[in-house]
Amino acid sequence: MSQLVEAPNLEVSSEARRRRTFAVISHPDAGKSTLTEALLLHARAITTAGAVHGKAGRRGTVSDYMAMEQARGISITSAAIQFEYDDTVINLVDTPGHADFSEDTFRVLSAVDAAVMLVDASKGLEAQTMKLFRVCQQRGLPVITVINKWDRPGLSALELMDEIRDRTGLVPTPLTWPVGEAGDFRGVLDRHTHEFIRFTRTPGGATVSTAEHLPASAAAAEEGDAWVTAAEESELLAAEGQIHDQSTFLAGTTTPVLFSAAVLNFGVHQLLDVLVQSAPPAEARPDSTGRRRPVDTEFSGFVFKVQSGMSASHRDHVAFVRVCSGQFRRGMIVTHAATGRPFATKYAQQFFGGDRETIDTAWPGDVVGLINASALRVGDSLFEGEPVEYPRLPMFSPEHFRVVRAANSSKHKQFRRGIEQLDHEGVIQVMRSELRGDQAPILGAVGPMQFEVVEDRMANDFGSPIRFEELPYQVARITTPADAAVLEKERQVEVLTRSDGTLLALFSTQWRLQAVTRAHPDLVLLDLADTGAASPRANA
Ligand code: G4P
Repeated sequence: MSQLVEAPNLEVSSEARRRRTFAVISHPDAGKSTLTEALLLHARAITTAGAVHGKAGRRGTVSDYMAMEQARGISITSAAIQFEYDDTVINLVDTPGHADFSEDTFRVLSAVDAAVMLVDASKGLEAQTMKLFRVCQQRGLPVITVINKWDRPGLSALELMDEIRDRTGLVPTPLTWPVGEAGDFRGVLDRHTHEFIRFTRTPGGATVSTAEHLPASAAAAEEGDAWVTAAEESELLAAEGQIHDQSTFLAGTTTPVLFSAAVLNFGVHQLLDVLVQSAPPAEARPDSTGRRRPVDTEFSGFVFKVQSGMSASHRDHVAFVRVCSGQFRRGMIVTHAATGRPFATKYAQQFFGGDRETIDTAWPGDVVGLINASALRVGDSLFEGEPVEYPRLPMFSPEHFRVVRAANSSKHKQFRRGIEQLDHEGVIQVMRSELRGDQAPILGAVGPMQFEVVEDRMANDFGSPIRFEELPYQVARITTPADAAVLEKERQVEVLTRSDGTLLALFSTQWRLQAVTRAHPDLVLLDLADTGAASPRANA
């Protein structure tokens, strides 16, 4: 270990500089799976599109591997996919694709260095788009915006830019500008080179399309008014300062914009180039005290996702670790910061959808799946040498609550084990009360879809089908044992103990919470989101 500390590790620095770690995020149906597939195709990680797309009737996408996801054609679990483009190593960290605001997505966003926000040209900014933009802003995460489905009729490009600026506060700085309206898409004007990149339909998106670049004069001759309009609009944007600026992009106040038709492979190549040229490489990350551990020092990383039963033949616990510094070498013994205990990394893997392969080395920015990692929880740090603890991942306040029971009482052991495991993975928050008894814990989720994940995993992974009973609560606050006694006497309020020992008071509505606060102004009622509480152990 000491040798690694003493010599500045040039290999680590250069590998870190070559990494781009990002996630594609969007409101469902904007084309995330399609774009993921197209990115991989362009990077030649796969040879034919369609081999990875997950909609009904096709084979599952590389990121869709659970039976449930395949049945529904949505991606609920997350995996990381690595491929090379030019001399750059791209780590695409997959996010859940369902319509809910999910904690999982936010954890993934803590593990990446940039986000690609996909917007459907005909819909503009949707509910989930807005939530995701806000989270990226809170985290200071640079965002590249891609306006997709430009081959179909949609809003005007200028309207979309106004919407982004007015509703997110981010200044859009288009890198390309569409020639022809949505639905009559001719191609894009490259605002840097002033070339025209022609849109050619690739039938079925089956192969990598070859982009045709034309100089401005040829484009003007061929496209006439459509080109002139695009050039004028681009100048108008420039006059308003909407030009890409690397420092404001990295600071998270401007967002470069591209136009694409992912299903026809258009714009994908441009996105890869932007990732390589402008997205930040893996850099020193602040630890929980704000100090930045240099990337070229000893290994460190943190767990951003824990999962079990990832495939029928591998019923195991996998902890996904984002490498923050140093070289990861399979077999190395690292320290688990939460317990101070050694952790052996004999089983380290990389995932490509359902396939996994053993990896021997990983560098800052990479994602490593550690197998048999039941001791590791979301948010835990691992390190070699000098101790480091990365900031705890934010915990979100649940807004949906259900009582859960085993549908078959003879399966009680499986039921207990399953609920415990899903709690451990951070899939759901588990609460209990003496009144309700141990057989009927209460589950809290940020979005209701999370309950479907629980239902599916309980039946398929743990062999215990369950029944739910909805509870009429919408708000949770952390309280103290003394205040719990006061709160329990209130109507439409219930106090429960979360599995980590935290007392949570549940209120039927925000209004009810306000009324109780007015009646008892001294009560301790903390918002979970404000407490910095992360994995349950943070409070234990
Ligand atoms: P998601 O992962 O964000 O939920 O979206 P997904 O890629 O599954 O795409 C949603 C739908 O939008 C799909 O159509 C997909 O083909 C279509 N789509 C994606 N990109 C484009 C694009 O650039 N242009 C057009 N016109 N359509 C696009 P679907 O009918 O739901 O499924 P499928 O039968 O086409 O697979």
